[in-house]
Amino acid sequence: MTSPIETVMRTAPVIPVLVIDDVASAAPIAAALVAGGLPVLEVTLRTPVALDVIREMAAVDGAIVGAGTVLNPAQLDQALDAGAQFIVSPGLTDPLARAAIDRQAAFLPGIANASDIMRGLDLGLDRFKFFPAESSGGIRALRALSGPFGDVRFCPTGGITPATAGEWLDEEAVLCVGGSWLVKAGMDMDGITKNAQRAAQLRR
Ligand code: 3PG
Repeated sequence: MTSPIETVMRTAPVIPVLVIDDVASAAPIAAALVAGGLPVLEVTLRTPVALDVIREMAAVDGAIVGAGTVLNPAQLDQALDAGAQFIVSPGLTDPLARAAIDRQAAFLPGIANASDIMRGLDLGLDRFKFFPAESSGGIRALRALSGPFGDVRFCPTGGITPATAGEWLDEEAVLCVGGSWLVKAGMDMDGITKNAQRAAQLRR
């Protein structure tokens, strides 16, 4: 059976990683990304308004909104209460993983090495964010990790660009990639939709 997080990972080739300071821009940005073909959105809990941004974006037609930069069970619960449909973390801790499993949340924890993956497997997890992907060794590191862990699948994030996303997506172990390049401060909505359209054409 396909797990809920795998369904999210297979929905679109690219997950925009969003750092949004202004609640008023949340719905228009989400709509611009969905219109461009990227419905899966990761709202990082890095701004004071992030939970409100999740609420606003979750109400946009077609958007599948998750929370990123979730560091502990308290933030997990806040994100789920705000309407997050999946949870992303830069790392993998026992308290967070156990809380995510307990709440039956679609959960994508970050890993960067074999020991992280083994701790995840012990907890019953086998879908991970590979983070920070480029500075942890890039595609060569991912291939090396896929040797001993052939059934594990990844969403590499961190340092991925429009120019390199396609190479990552060519890897069998990669279901999708994450990146912040889709939405940067000052971009207009047409520019965001165009970025999304280009990214949505990338295929596994
Ligand atoms: C993340 O939290 O996933 C990263 O900050 C995104 O990395 P990028 O800015 O290099 O795309």
